Amino acid sequence: MCGIVGYIGKKNCKQIIFNGLKRLEYRGYDSAGIAVLDGGNIEFIKASGKLKELEKLMDQLPNSAVSGIGHTRWATHGSPSTINAHPHVFGKLALIHNGIIENYGDLKTGLELAGISFHSETDTEVALMMLNKELEEVEKQVGHNPSNIKQAIINTTSKLKGTYSFGVIYSEEPDALYLVKHGTPLAIGKGEEEMFFASDVSAFVEYTKKAVFLHDGEFARISSSSIEVYNFSCQPVEHVFVDINMRSEELEKGGYAHYMLKEICEQPMVLSSIIDRLVDKTNSCIKEEALGLDKIDVRGIRSVHVIGCGTAFYSGYTIKYALEELTGISVNLELASEFRYRGVHLDPSSLVIAISQSGETADTLAALKYAKEHGAKTYCVCNVYYSSIPREADFSLYMDAGPEIGVASTKAFTGMVLCNYLLAIGIASRLKDKKNIYSKVGFSSMLKQMYYLPSLIEGIVSGREEIKEISNKYYNSSNFLYIGRGSHYSIALEGALKLKEISYIHAEGYAAGELKHGPIALIDSSIPVVALIPNDRYFPKTESNMEEVKARDGRVIGVGDREKISKVCESVLRCPQIEDPYLQSILSVIVLQLFAYYIANRRGTDVDQPRNLAKSVTVE
Ligand code: AGP
Repeated sequence: MCGIVGYIGKKNCKQIIFNGLKRLEYRGYDSAGIAVLDGGNIEFIKASGKLKELEKLMDQLPNSAVSGIGHTRWATHGSPSTINAHPHVFGKLALIHNGIIENYGDLKTGLELAGISFHSETDTEVALMMLNKELEEVEKQVGHNPSNIKQAIINTTSKLKGTYSFGVIYSEEPDALYLVKHGTPLAIGKGEEEMFFASDVSAFVEYTKKAVFLHDGEFARISSSSIEVYNFSCQPVEHVFVDINMRSEELEKGGYAHYMLKEICEQPMVLSSIIDRLVDKTNSCIKEEALGLDKIDVRGIRSVHVIGCGTAFYSGYTIKYALEELTGISVNLELASEFRYRGVHLDPSSLVIAISQSGETADTLAALKYAKEHGAKTYCVCNVYYSSIPREADFSLYMDAGPEIGVASTKAFTGMVLCNYLLAIGIASRLKDKKNIYSKVGFSSMLKQMYYLPSLIEGIVSGREEIKEISNKYYNSSNFLYIGRGSHYSIALEGALKLKEISYIHAEGYAAGELKHGPIALIDSSIPVVALIPNDRYFPKTESNMEEVKARDGRVIGVGDREKISKVCESVLRCPQIEDPYLQSILSVIVLQLFAYYIANRRGTDVDQPRNLAKSVTVE
């Protein structure tokens, strides 16, 4: 989604802002722009398309400017044209925006009736014109004073409905930039005689690791050496600096062709560090404190709700299936976008677990807020520190997967699955005295199997050439089906999502048992069916489903143990086997991540920034 960035200091700002925008590219965008303040004049450039289009215009900006703002736009209101790109500039103001002004239509009508005309189709220009009008009103009342901008900001925010982070240049105040936050992220970076701001810290982490995260309902005035934060009643608010634990090298491709491939290959390291943090290897038990189990009154829980979107939602099947199996407690797994509006009954005996890589997904955040308002205990599994979802949750379990830049989630998904599984085991181990359901199974043997996971994944990624060769046989297909059972149902969903996201091939995931209830009508020799068939208790059933596909001239690509499945398959994507079904699902999905990656690569799509997609979905 939109990325905002800004700089004020002593240096030529345009390149710093452009570099910041490069860092935010991964969020997804379709046009971009920069505005700078030079000698009291606002100069700006905008371009539709990728940043290389904007780069061609950089010479139009003065080298002497030392403050400015930049934006990558993911179109919501109005096409991704140059005119709709930000910054929007009028009079003494330039403004960039991440979010959506929901009442922009009514506000625009009112402004038009007052004689104000618009050039773009965006909700953002409405916010700009509203700010300009409010500024004029304040001037009329109290006379000219540069600090009137603060009152104008407050008056404007009182009229806006929706979500927004704004970065504002006000040419009357060349030594300052104004920032406003309500519902979408905004961080300020403090350097030596320079200040940065951005939607996320990756935009400025190469310059400074000291940051302030604004809260909803706050605005800030920043200069090269100061930060003043206010609430929307203009009361000063104290701000806290935090140290960012991110190295700028983590934001590089590190020799890989794409971030996605790099992130797939990082999975042994990511999972091994999760295991080290959350499992006590000496005693083969969960580190309950690290999981925050002491913060949840596990025994008082009567209902569990797991919420997320997209890949995060699919990872939630691990908690649902594992927790239900281990504890007998029913788990409601639900898309956050549905949960938030459905009026689900919650009370202090409900536990709501939100899962999110970015920690900023608008639907998940709103659903979590709903849960809090209704008295539920809240917990989140997240990757990004200081993001909005962990700020809301009573306890946050970080997967610490490092920055995930590829829009298609890979290492975050397996990180989520592992964290979810450990959480389920942790809750079950706390409950076991009461229910005793799980004592037969034995937690320590499950945990011991985990220790093999990183080396098994190493085997998959180092043998990836074989997956590449097989993908070459199928890259031209227009439709795929993915099927799986049990823990592998969610992997069928996730595998299909990965393929469609980055290759633009239509792919659907189904529970293998559902095939005959409809999708089998699609089967012919043109549709490859990717069957997830590990050596688990469902093996004979899934094998029968594969036979059914084969009997109808379908082309079966099996994911599993070659020796056992090759006779039913046209091709086999080999996958190492492990007894535990949830750990197996991690291995299987990595094979599918690579399969999707190589197909997309062969089709020549933009693997890291697929069309229309955003990494962090900060609007509904
Ligand atoms: C994953 O490949 C997708 N890009 C998408 O489905 C994503 O998982 C979803 O938008 C949720 O994001 P989050 O984990 O940051 O909340």
